[in-house]
Amino acid sequence: SAKIKHGFVCENCGTIHAKWHGFCNQCRQANSLKEFTNVVSSGSSGGGGGAGARAVEGVGLADRATKAELKPQRLAEITASKNHLHWRLSLPGKTGSEIARVLGGGLVPGSLILVSGDPGVGKSTLLLQVFGADEAAPVLYISGEESVEQIGNRAERLKIESNEIFILSATDLDVVLTWIQEIVPRAVVLDSIQTVYLPDASGSAGSISQVRECTSALLRVAKKTNTAIFLIGHVTKSGEIAGPRTLEHMVDVCLHLEGDRLLSQRLLRSLKNRFGSTKEVGVFEMVDNGLRAVENPSLMFLSDRTGEDSNASATVGVALEGSRPLLVEIQALCSPATSLPSKRTFTGVDPSRFNLIVAVLLKQARLRLARQDIFVNVVGGFRLEEPATDIAVAVAIASSYIERPVPRDTVFVGELGLGGELRFVTQLERRLFEASKLGFKKCIVPQGAKGVKVDGMELILCSSLKDVLEKVF
Ligand code: TYD
Ligand code: MG
Repeated sequence: SAKIKHGFVCENCGTIHAKWHGFCNQCRQANSLKEFTNVVSSGSSGGGGGAGARAVEGVGLADRATKAELKPQRLAEITASKNHLHWRLSLPGKTGSEIARVLGGGLVPGSLILVSGDPGVGKSTLLLQVFGADEAAPVLYISGEESVEQIGNRAERLKIESNEIFILSATDLDVVLTWIQEIVPRAVVLDSIQTVYLPDASGSAGSISQVRECTSALLRVAKKTNTAIFLIGHVTKSGEIAGPRTLEHMVDVCLHLEGDRLLSQRLLRSLKNRFGSTKEVGVFEMVDNGLRAVENPSLMFLSDRTGEDSNASATVGVALEGSRPLLVEIQALCSPATSLPSKRTFTGVDPSRFNLIVAVLLKQARLRLARQDIFVNVVGGFRLEEPATDIAVAVAIASSYIERPVPRDTVFVGELGLGGELRFVTQLERRLFEASKLGFKKCIVPQGAKGVKVDGMELILCSSLKDVLEKVF
């Protein structure tokens, strides 16, 4: 086809534009268009050079799906054309990069992202804040819950100064869709999916049919305009996101913001992600002016350990949240049971893991726990989800039972087997490194850790629970 003699090429995705824009309307990267002259003549008769040439000619997503183009392509052609790559937008600020990490390394244009969470947990705050810091391209924030004045008040509190954020208070989705296509923003936030309705669909706003119809209309417009759309969804009393489960299937990414309303920390987890791992977790703290990314989450889950005689029966373990090691503190208390059966009260520990640990303490370490009430608590409301913290839980319980303090400079890493053996855990070095960074000097580790070296950290190799207890107490 035609030779292009002059134009603007996006350095990010290679799309060619006739005119200069502040951002590429294909991959949405800001300031990526560079002027060029005298380049490219593409394959003339279609076929062969197709895939590559198409990227160069900058045909939009919608155009690409014309009938003639709807034909199977060789996988090799697709991979060679780089069209399959998901361009990712960075998000501004520390809060933004924390979200970007949870999203799998940035925001994929054209993706539909559900952000769910209990009312009041901070969903609106988080999204307004992140996009309020984005000066690169227009962002549209639509609220069906608050008036523009209310959003204005919140924005003042969050100190948002961006000139590129547009606020719309609307519940009619037709109006919303029109504006998305009019502005073609870099990203859209819809707060919330339960407050909007399509006049043509049945039911009232928030009903299953409305939520489903609205979501599919938004999905189409996201793909058509290549705009990333965030849907905020409240969790209903029964714990389901936005009512119907179907919503989770329709969107590309499901994020869940969680945290105790009384505590300030918030965790942003990814429950589903078509573009990345669901392992990453974002850690934030709610402060006076919004959500602040926590750079050193480990500290958050440790109680003040400087006092000499604060709870001595507490251990520190290293959990992994996604790719990130987190130091967690486990407190235990054993006291003679006042009535039988004795009580087992624990928070933050998986019940079957807890029972296994107590059984191993009984059987292999010969602790007489049968007539003891046992209480275990993971500090900061953290939930232990992997067996790597088994030994930390076991030592905390043992410490309280035998009434000897746990050394304060020691961390505990290892999984307990049924025979009381201490088993190797994944990503050991990473965990040790984190502990060392936070000032711990010694670590109880499984035998398998032989040969591992971490600066400033003494590794105490142990083969079994009994071995650990002998070396610690
Ligand atoms: P909000 O974002 O409205 O929650 P959601 O959209 O999930 O319902 O957050 C509401 C809570 O956050 C409210 O209890 C007040 C608190 N908050 C702060 O602590 N600091 C702030 O800067 C803001 C804006 C809110
Ligand atoms: Mg809200």
